[in-house]
Amino acid sequence: MRLVVTGKTGQVATALVERGADQGVEVALVGRPELDLLVPEAGLEAIADLRPDVIVSAAAYTAVDKAEADEASAVAVNATAPGAIARLADRLGVPLIHLSTDYVFDGRKDAPYVETDQTNPLGVYGQTKLAGEKAVAAATANHAILRTAWVYSPFGNNFLKTMLRLAEQRPALGVVDDQIGNPTSALDIADAVIRVAGNLVSRPDDAQLRGIFHMAGHGDASWADLASEIFAVSATLGGPSTLVNRIGTPDYPTPAPRPANTRLSSAKLQAVHGVAMPDWRSSTRSTLARLLGKSVRATNSIHPEQTS
Ligand SMILES: NC(=O)c1ccc[n+]([C@@H]2O[C@H](COP(=O)([O-])OP(=O)(O)OC[C@H]3O[C@@H](n4cnc5c(N)ncnc54)[C@H](OP(=O)(O)O)[C@@H]3O)[C@@H](O)[C@H]2O)c1
Repeated sequence: MRLVVTGKTGQVATALVERGADQGVEVALVGRPELDLLVPEAGLEAIADLRPDVIVSAAAYTAVDKAEADEASAVAVNATAPGAIARLADRLGVPLIHLSTDYVFDGRKDAPYVETDQTNPLGVYGQTKLAGEKAVAAATANHAILRTAWVYSPFGNNFLKTMLRLAEQRPALGVVDDQIGNPTSALDIADAVIRVAGNLVSRPDDAQLRGIFHMAGHGDASWADLASEIFAVSATLGGPSTLVNRIGTPDYPTPAPRPANTRLSSAKLQAVHGVAMPDWRSSTRSTLARLLGKSVRATNSIHPEQTS
């Protein structure tokens, strides 16, 4: 099976290369400069030329705050381009796996979100990702939209790397404690995507396997819970650690409003695709072990949800 994945340096794309190699699945990445999702039409043939069995649409405009002031780019990358990629998948007769986000919800539900829950994004990023979901669904029935959340990995910029870096610089950190979600390892996402891809290829007429699925780490946490766990584990591994001061969302104003509760139920993914997402604590520990084996460099700000 050959997966052609959009984006070259993204967390999920990089994780797919690694997990694919482990599992004998060919993974080819297509991204800038040959495919720029701001103007995707010119680069779509680069995907077709690689003769995918499944296309994985993982690239996105993920800078949540920046999107508020750059809506046109976010619309182009997160909404228009996925529609064009979905039309290509339809033309090639291959399934499309499209990554989406917990930020399609407003976070006001007092329980984990299921796939049939009403969407109501609070900011431009979530609005454009929701528009992308709709564009994909309109273009091809042969799709699986996988909504994930709070992604971290040994690659790229993410909350784990930011916390480790800041722990080396500061005696204490204020971290938001009233936003709850499911921290999710990009490596676990990659395993899930490979499994879903296999299902879509082997059962081309099974409508049950198509549609929207939530795919997030098992168990939930606030950002402060996650930070505390990171520092506790880091300390046991000989890495940096600092004090976590639990603060409220109003203490950390951001350009894009954040949903308070974006816990996702991944029960449908497990029931239909046979994928059980691992517990976030065990995946966090293994990611930290890898990160602490290398130098930790990250450039994003303290705010945990710069991307989603
Ligand atoms: N990160 C999270 O916390 C989170 C949470 C929920 C859902 N998601 C979703 O999960 C998916 C994967 O996220 P991720 O964490 O892997 O993202 P990421 O690490 O931020 O990577 C984004 C990728 O998108 C590519 N990209 C951005 N603009 C592009 C453009 N104009 N043309 C071509 N490629 C472009 C980047 O390309 P370059 O390689 O050229 O830089 C990069 O490969 C996304 O759909 C995202 O919306 C992420």
